[in-house]
Amino acid sequence: MPAARVLVLFAHPALQKSRVNRRLAAAAAAVPGVTLHDLYETYPDFHLDVAREQALLVAHDAVVFQHPFYWYSSPALLKEWQDLVLEPGFAYGPGGDRLRGKRFLSAITTGGGAAAYTHGGHNRFTIGELLAPFEQTAHLCGMVWQEPFVVHGATRLEDETELSRHAAAYAARLAAL
Ligand SMILES: Cc1cc2nc3c(=O)[nH]c(=O)nc-3n(C[C@H](O)[C@H](O)[C@H](O)COP(=O)(O)O)c2cc1C
Repeated sequence: MPAARVLVLFAHPALQKSRVNRRLAAAAAAVPGVTLHDLYETYPDFHLDVAREQALLVAHDAVVFQHPFYWYSSPALLKEWQDLVLEPGFAYGPGGDRLRGKRFLSAITTGGGAAAYTHGGHNRFTIGELLAPFEQTAHLCGMVWQEPFVVHGATRLEDETELSRHAAAYAARLAAL
């Protein structure tokens, strides 16, 4: 069976400062079938080409949102992407079936450690709970939610072996989509 066509929508507003997402993105780009789409590189002025984005979605079997966790959500351009690209009649609502059946993976890095994302922890909610808007967005569009890929404690991750381990784990998740 040919590899699934996987569209990685990558959003990092300060890639030159990134350690973890930079590594994950490079690993993703090397996986057969993966299209790495760097949104901040493509749309530095936030003027999204909606028709192009929708055509990209239609041409892939799985959709990945890859980004650092910013204020318990995505960086602004990925929110803009959702607001403009997921139109009624395309993504949901009457006739809006173009994303139906595609797998959806949320791939995030967090500054907070795993223990912070517990009910007794610093961030009070689990990652699963905080990603509920993404899960419901995928559901509304008929996409199949996958267990999120999360790298915790990303701001303190410096060890080369650890970085490589996370990059390999991410590549494996993408290859299995
Ligand atoms: C504007 C901003 C908001 C952030 N919000 C969160 C947050 O809500 N939760 C969290 O765990 N980390 C938060 N962080 C930390 C980032 O998630 C962290 O720097 C990033 O995952 C590191 O990945 P990178 O090396 O690819 O930049 C925030 C960072 C910035 C700059």
